[in-house]
Amino acid sequence: MILSSSPLQGITDDVFRSVHHEVFGGIDEYFGPYVRLENHKEPKKSQLKDASSELNEGLNYIPQILSSQAELILKEAERLKDLGHQQVNWNLGCPYPMVSKRNMGAGLLNQPSLVEEVLESIMPKMPLGFSIKCRLGLESDQDIIPLIDIFNEFNIDEVIIHARTAKQMYKGSAKPEKIIPLLAQSKHPIVYNGDLNSIEDIKQVQTLFGGKIEKLMLGRGLIMKPHLAKIAKDNKIENLQKDLYSFHEKLIAQYLNKFQGHQLVPKMRGVWEYLSHSFADSHKVFKLIKKAKSWSSYNKNTDLIFHQFDLDE
Ligand SMILES: Cc1cc2nc3c(=O)[nH]c(=O)nc-3n(C[C@H](O)[C@H](O)[C@H](O)COP(=O)(O)O)c2cc1C
Repeated sequence: MILSSSPLQGITDDVFRSVHHEVFGGIDEYFGPYVRLENHKEPKKSQLKDASSELNEGLNYIPQILSSQAELILKEAERLKDLGHQQVNWNLGCPYPMVSKRNMGAGLLNQPSLVEEVLESIMPKMPLGFSIKCRLGLESDQDIIPLIDIFNEFNIDEVIIHARTAKQMYKGSAKPEKIIPLLAQSKHPIVYNGDLNSIEDIKQVQTLFGGKIEKLMLGRGLIMKPHLAKIAKDNKIENLQKDLYSFHEKLIAQYLNKFQGHQLVPKMRGVWEYLSHSFADSHKVFKLIKKAKSWSSYNKNTDLIFHQFDLDE
């Protein structure tokens, strides 16, 4: 089983990935959050910097592009190649209307001819290994069917499918059973993504796919339980309490090189929205985090959490 870590804009940045790799591991490849590229505006410096971070060294990192403009995709792929990267991923899954209405991300899922046009323009000149991360569809879970035929025409490393529609956003359940007919249709390896939040979830999809999917991508489940991949691979973890504490300490220490304490409070709240699920009473844990409005109260409350709350083992 190969496990990859999905990109989560605002969470799985260079610091998160490198600390996760150091403390827990178990992940074979870390996908970076997207760089958004459009003709009329400069890409965000913070998004471009993700691929040039020295923290990517020592782990298998794959950058991601969100765009439908062939020339911008190729220009970014050249930049990524110059930075030493070997692969790039194309985002066809971002569900937010301000992205999808601009013909990017999931907005392309019901426009197969536009997807084909972009691939026809970029693939002959693509300097890197190229993969796609998509959803089942924009509104219909049938959108994926003509897309797979189009992907089949090109030299693509793998197709990662988040088994939701964009209309679902991140809610409702993922539908792994919808992937089964695609396994025969796709000439490229399919990677499954969606709702892998526990060892049981991982086992269930493995049984469902009967060995026909080799790689799984963990999303929010890996932030909820940063030890999930390690346990899936090794069947055990020596001292979860110590590792979680050290994971949090190292995250904070590295972020303090980039942010002031008060800027870290809202950033870490985003992490704790998921990380709180490592504790038995996740609701109470997240309530304590939400209550912490200052850096000193954040430190006080996290100290309380790590010393007085039971883990969800
Ligand atoms: C806060 C947040 C940010 C995300 N950012 C990205 C992104 O930059 N690129 C991407 O392809 N997917 C992004 N996703 C989607 C996830 O990578 C993943 O596909 C999705 O959460 C489904 O997997 P899960 O059900 O295991 O969480 C994001 C999801 C969330 C919740």
